[in-house]
Amino acid sequence: MSETHPTGNTVEKPWTGRFSEPTDAFVEAFGASVGFDQRIYRQDIAGSKAHARMLAHVGVLSEAERDSIITGLDQIQNEIERGEFRWSIALEDVHMNIESRLTALIGEAGKKLHTGRSRNDQVATDVRLYLRDEIDLIQTELRRLQGNLIDLAEREADTIMPGFTHLQTAQPISFGHHMLAWNEMLQRDAERLADCRKRVNIMPLGSAALAGTTYPIDRSFTARELGFAMPGRNSLDGVSDRDFAIEFISAASLLLMHLSRFSEELILWVSSQFNFVEISDAFCTGSSIMPQKKNPDVPELVRGKSGRVYGHLIAMLTIMKGQPLAYNKDNQEDKEPLFDTIDTVKGCLRVFADMMGCSKDAQGQSRCHVVPRREVMREAARRGFSTATDLADYLVRKGVAFRDAHEIVGKAVALGVRTERDLSEMSLAELREFSSAIDEDVFAVLTLEGSVAARNHPGGTAPERVREAVQLARNLLL
Ligand code: ARG
Repeated sequence: MSETHPTGNTVEKPWTGRFSEPTDAFVEAFGASVGFDQRIYRQDIAGSKAHARMLAHVGVLSEAERDSIITGLDQIQNEIERGEFRWSIALEDVHMNIESRLTALIGEAGKKLHTGRSRNDQVATDVRLYLRDEIDLIQTELRRLQGNLIDLAEREADTIMPGFTHLQTAQPISFGHHMLAWNEMLQRDAERLADCRKRVNIMPLGSAALAGTTYPIDRSFTARELGFAMPGRNSLDGVSDRDFAIEFISAASLLLMHLSRFSEELILWVSSQFNFVEISDAFCTGSSIMPQKKNPDVPELVRGKSGRVYGHLIAMLTIMKGQPLAYNKDNQEDKEPLFDTIDTVKGCLRVFADMMGCSKDAQGQSRCHVVPRREVMREAARRGFSTATDLADYLVRKGVAFRDAHEIVGKAVALGVRTERDLSEMSLAELREFSSAIDEDVFAVLTLEGSVAARNHPGGTAPERVREAVQLARNLLL
């Protein structure tokens, strides 16, 4: 049955044989996915070409038919890329739009392309191909962000800042060490994505509608053509489960959670109360009413965007949970959450990688966009009694039990709070009031540099170890 499309074209739905009345107009629009699934046109065309080559390889299509299909598909790809392709809602999705155009272009051979396959295995294959490519792009951006963080860590290995627990000054640390903590989280995110990719890269094509096909297909041939690691082992599973997409969105949620935490710290650090870092104007905006403001929009927006990705994860889990085997139309709902997750992750990584990096200004000078204020951080570390643990450790080395040492230092800190002085600003006589085990050599451990350098073991904050960790982190990036 043919129907008239709003463009004036008459379109032929490929499945109307058993139908006697046309689709309700709203149902047609309601069920159509072409508005959003046209973004996988390249994968759909690649999948169809591989399928046609395989059908010719096993003798189901002639070589002439195969060649005509491939030429037709190439032309369609050109039409789409030049913006000349007319997408039709009546043809529901990207698959039927392309197939219908192919038949219009090449005639009989076009009608043979769908031999031995179904849109069910076709769409599952296309989405996997698409996601595989996108994971690779995401990994590239992630590596760029990590590289910039590692460079920053190297530049600032000797920069001292207060480390926090409970957001209270705890102990002095190297700013570089702090950057490398962020990098560790990203490294795990990259590993999770790489692992997820292995399960994305399994080919559903050949599952056909659900049970496989009666044609003598060669699935290894198609898998090789499309760069899949292997054909899926079960046709029902191949057309139905979207766990690979859920797994990706779950890895993306963790990544966004990490970016949200970094963002939160940057937002605190640029506030005038902390004033630990400066972010280039290019990554901030002003206020339309308060002239003094410079707002950290980029980190705020990234922190906010984690919300939509978590939402997509819950959406996808919910879409999947009630479905009996095998394919159900519910699965068409996998695309928007997946695509939006991909777009969000790529956008956040791109802007974060740019912001954590350096670029050349108009004069050709390299300028870094997140610049620590070394003096401010140093002063903050000095004021917060951040070397109190070092004094306790010092007393332990002099034979005092740790619990007693803790008590002694607590009293010294109380005096510091009353008199607004750091431990290093007290005289030896004053300190000895708290413990006779304290000698002149105590001042060496009360300095920030001494405190940081003393944590000198793998994983510790000593600048020497930070520089070592920078090398290790770079090696893991390769
Ligand atoms: N547009 C559909 C989807 O996104 C393609 C598969 C449709 N299959 C079907 N038998 N209706 O999932």
